[in-house]
Amino acid sequence: AEEQLEYVKSHISTYPDFPKKGIIFRDIFGALTDGKACRYLRDLLVQHIRSQHPDVELIVGLDSRGFLLNLLLATELGIGCAPIRKKGKLAGELVGVEYKLEYGSDIFEMQRSAIKPGQKVIIVDDLLATGGSLAAATQLVRKLGGVILESVVVIELQELQGRQKLDCNVHSLIQY
Ligand code: PRP
Ligand code: HPA
Repeated sequence: AEEQLEYVKSHISTYPDFPKKGIIFRDIFGALTDGKACRYLRDLLVQHIRSQHPDVELIVGLDSRGFLLNLLLATELGIGCAPIRKKGKLAGELVGVEYKLEYGSDIFEMQRSAIKPGQKVIIVDDLLATGGSLAAATQLVRKLGGVILESVVVIELQELQGRQKLDCNVHSLIQY
């Protein structure tokens, strides 16, 4: 597992001053373009969830890079997945919440029918920065009656202390 983790980490790309001066952009796509890194990434996340949260019932992924992970993990675990999307993309009865980003602000929405009250949920995303996105996501999931077992991210930018904004367990594979 340690070798797999090092392999994935070595394929994360880093871009200084993107999308703005002063931001060091960590890019998961560098890892996804490599077949072995993709498989290792999947296996590491699945192993963690299987061992720590075997009772998980639904994976919720954040727009848009969280979608790369939610279906992947859900199919491996044999459970369903649901999206949290940026405003205006989802149909039907919706619940929304505003959130702030490392650079900007937006509204997240979920379909009310996506979560059954009491359902055990893991939220996934590519990266934890300021924690604004995941904090909003946890609010949304709870508004729909979901019970959050944990939030799982591939990359955590520790200096931004996003973890402290979250009142749920957080698991990150790679920290900077
Ligand atoms: C990025 C990233 C996380 C979020 C992390 O997404 O994929 O979802 O920001 O930042 P935070 O912890 O400060 O909230 P972004 O909103 O850029 O959307 P995208 O995935 O559609 O590019
Ligand atoms: N990389 C990718 N997405 C992000 C980042 C980053 O460094 N910061 C906020 N969202």
